[in-house]
Amino acid sequence: RVAAPSALVLFGVTGDLAKKKLLPAMYDLANRSLLPPAFSLVGFGRRDWDDAQFAEYVKENVTQHARTPYNEDLWQQFASGLRFVHGEFDDDDAYVRLAETLDELDRDRGTRGNHAFYLSIPPKAFEVVCQQLADHDLADSEESQGWRRVVIEKPFGHDLESARELNSIVERVFRPDSVFRIDHYLGKETVQNILALRFANQMFEPLWDARYVDHVQITMAEEIGIGSRAGYYDGVGAARDVIQNHLLQLLAFTAMEEPASFSARNLRLEKAKVLESVVLPSDLGEHSALGQYTSGLQGGEFVKGFHEESDIPADSRTETFAALRVDINNRRWAGVPFYLRAGKRLGRRVTEIAVAFKKSPNLLFRETDNDEFGQNAIVIRIQPDEGVTIRFGSKVPGTQSEIRDVTMDFGYGHAFTESSPEAYERLIFDVLLGEPPLFPDHSEVELSWKILDPFENYWSEHKVEPEPYAPGSWGPESAHELMARDGRVWRRP
Ligand code: BG6
Repeated sequence: RVAAPSALVLFGVTGDLAKKKLLPAMYDLANRSLLPPAFSLVGFGRRDWDDAQFAEYVKENVTQHARTPYNEDLWQQFASGLRFVHGEFDDDDAYVRLAETLDELDRDRGTRGNHAFYLSIPPKAFEVVCQQLADHDLADSEESQGWRRVVIEKPFGHDLESARELNSIVERVFRPDSVFRIDHYLGKETVQNILALRFANQMFEPLWDARYVDHVQITMAEEIGIGSRAGYYDGVGAARDVIQNHLLQLLAFTAMEEPASFSARNLRLEKAKVLESVVLPSDLGEHSALGQYTSGLQGGEFVKGFHEESDIPADSRTETFAALRVDINNRRWAGVPFYLRAGKRLGRRVTEIAVAFKKSPNLLFRETDNDEFGQNAIVIRIQPDEGVTIRFGSKVPGTQSEIRDVTMDFGYGHAFTESSPEAYERLIFDVLLGEPPLFPDHSEVELSWKILDPFENYWSEHKVEPEPYAPGSWGPESAHELMARDGRVWRRP
């Protein structure tokens, strides 16, 4: 599949995301020959650069961060489509120059009026940029030739109301089917594989319900702290940063019914149904936990606590760890809790979904294993050690009837010679093709805020203080208590 000739206009070229992910992803796509013919990348930003200086900047970042080793021929070909338009987001003249640049590309390079606008900028700038694009006839318009698409990055608001406002700003200018909302987790091979595991096989789905499943745990643990992102992170916190989007999408993929097809419409329909069926615990305080990392040793290295990170106020109540329980009120899942947790500076970088089964009713064998689960589980390892593990009990060799947990393992590295594309490669490729299944639509964003808002309101009304936890640990005590109250334990990945 090859997309039509097109240009991508990138707002926010000097941001971290552009440097580390977007520019390298485009270069890696070029290396796989997956960019459309005549592909052009137009950077838009405040720097007083010309095209050559922009190209230098792009070259530096792809050399550092792309997976493809630098290659002069490939670079020359990629660089021939690089342009830079310098200006502020609200500068009329800059958009006139942008329109001229796009005209030139359409005419001389053959991008044929196909333009994607990638807003890798803070949401508060969406309004002015969208309005300017509309005023200069750069967004969707009856007369425009080719397609016009807009790509927006999270955060999609900080609660339901602001998400709705943001959406109306974007959809005043772009048609709903031209809006591509990035949740980069959906670009991950292992996340897409959840649907393959469930629906391309016969052996898992019969067990995938309340008759056999005891509970589900979804963990997103990071070793890193907030780094230089204080400006974004403070006041946002772990729950808004990743639970509202990535973790609830993982929940939806794990719990949804089989879609009629993998079209965007059918996928979104099933995800929305399951998100709509989520019910919250009656006591939000007991079934949630917040934490904040302290300073200390992590992996033999001294790391700063959250309060010592630069630009974090000493009294910040922003959480760097959040855990919560939700239930799903439908026939398949009634009575099966879904526990979600996410945090920075935890013991290990790992994202996984663990489906934990009920214990066998048959106690003929004596369990000797004292592991956290002591029960069958299917663990979908999203990253970094991508694969699936099935855990079950096995007789310990010997004359006694003892059972111990063992695992059966599928790892991408062993099973496939093909390498997985980076999430952003896949998503940018899909934007250019105009394929929306991997992009959540606005209703999913709204439904996710409807799930998180009551927790956020509870935490702020009750002035819940995040509980300190040591770097390299698995979060605050209250997270373990949340599980213990239900007679369960968190898995140690
Ligand atoms: C982003 C969050 O969405 O995901 C970051 O804003 C987080 O805080 C990042 O570090 C993690 O992404 P990944 O792909 O490394 O799991």
